Amino acid sequence: MRLSRYFLPVLKETPAEAQIVSHRLMLRAGMIKQASAGIYSWLPLGFKVLRKLENIVHEEQARAGHIPMLMPTLQSADLWRESGRYDDYGAEMLRITDRHGRDMLYGPTNEELITDIFRSHVGSYKDLPLTLYHIQWKFRDEVRPRFGVMRGREFLMKDGYNFDLTKEDALHSYNRHLVSYLRTYERMGLQAIPMRADSGPIGGDDTHEFLVLADTGESEVFYDSQITDLKFGDRELDYDSVEQCQAVLEEFTSRYARTDETHDVAEFNKIPEDRRRTARGIEVGQIFYFGTKYSEAMGATVQGPDGKPVPVHMGSHGIGVSRLVGAIIEASHDDKGIIWPEGVTPYHVGIVNLKQGDTEADAACESLYKAVQAVGLEALYDDRDERAGGKFATMDLIGLPWRITVGPRGLKNGVVELTSRRTGESVEMPPQQAIEKILEIYHPHHHHNIAQPMAKQSFHTWV
Ligand SMILES: Nc1ncnc2c1ncn2[C@@H]1O[C@H](COP(=O)(O)OP(=O)(O)OP(=O)(O)O)[C@@H](O)[C@H]1O
Ligand SMILES: [Mg+2]
Repeated sequence: MRLSRYFLPVLKETPAEAQIVSHRLMLRAGMIKQASAGIYSWLPLGFKVLRKLENIVHEEQARAGHIPMLMPTLQSADLWRESGRYDDYGAEMLRITDRHGRDMLYGPTNEELITDIFRSHVGSYKDLPLTLYHIQWKFRDEVRPRFGVMRGREFLMKDGYNFDLTKEDALHSYNRHLVSYLRTYERMGLQAIPMRADSGPIGGDDTHEFLVLADTGESEVFYDSQITDLKFGDRELDYDSVEQCQAVLEEFTSRYARTDETHDVAEFNKIPEDRRRTARGIEVGQIFYFGTKYSEAMGATVQGPDGKPVPVHMGSHGIGVSRLVGAIIEASHDDKGIIWPEGVTPYHVGIVNLKQGDTEADAACESLYKAVQAVGLEALYDDRDERAGGKFATMDLIGLPWRITVGPRGLKNGVVELTSRRTGESVEMPPQQAIEKILEIYHPHHHHNIAQPMAKQSFHTWV
């Protein structure tokens, strides 16, 4: 993408309404524009990051064997009356009446809709286990939408639902989701800690929330400091293996880590004092096992091996995709702007032409721009006729992890400059070497690296 042809409405002034850094930076970097309270348009740069996150979610769901689909945003109230949640959900549910006087609602979550699909089409235990998911907009009429996309009213969520014959099988599904979520967040450059949580309006006994530690987080969290040393990393794992998934669950949940809702002071105080931590966290996902709550209420049964109908055991699992854009910025920025982790960056590299209009500099930038494309990566080329200082400030603000700077002086010596956004470190090298370096960063040669997609395939491959 050439910046001269892009739509990147960066703001010079810090917007007064934004209270936290991610909200400020998303507005300043031209990623979002508020449409009304808690509802945002995703401008091109923000949309690109959102799509990258969706893509990681799809790849990791595919890896775990879960099946993508798409359900509508508007739902009929009747299904929610069957589960009893039409009344329980309260003022957070946006209720709509259509022209025929039918009660509709904008889905805050999809347990009812998916259970209806399941009961209509699945009749035998032989069709289990089954896990379906989608990535779709949700609406919750939050009392106090704030912090930009972190607590919106309309927000993008990945929500998945597992159907299993027995509690045991459903608990394996639960563990499998925990594993796949750990991998998902790590690929986004985040450490998200699973913490024992409260089930809220979804209901059920077993539930963990995933929290990213950040001072601006809305949850108060309590944990054993040893937990932050845990890494899923690039380990190989068989998602069908009950033992392997169980072992990961135990590894990541055996140390104390809870939100204020489930915090137990007596338990917490059993940890050696120097390891006790109190902090704030951003909830970026949650997994639930709720057994037969919905299947019994809505008659979602299958014929068991003995021919008798059994209500299926279910769980649901959510990732806050749009909130994650803000969470990643909260976890990765400095006073100049955003610093995207390589796995989610909207463009892999920025190219800055220090002297637009200079024949040699223009030609060198053009060939770098094409070379980046040729290796399957994306560059954002600042080809505007602007001063170097302004170009650097824009690149720093929008946070591309790598920048190649091209100017007449360097070119005389046959070099360009490669700069890391994170460390600020610059190294001069011939253009070809800069391309090789970039390629190596994004496609390191060992194939099992977690930062790598399963294969170089587009989003559409996963659906
Ligand atoms: N208002 C919101 N804006 C943006 N993302 C949200 C919002 N509400 C929930 N999410 C995201 O969707 C995920 C799954 O939804 P879930 O039903 O667990 O939310 P929740 O527990 O009600 O969230 P919260 O406690 O933050 O209100 C959450 O972990 C969160 O990341
Ligand atoms: Mg939650």
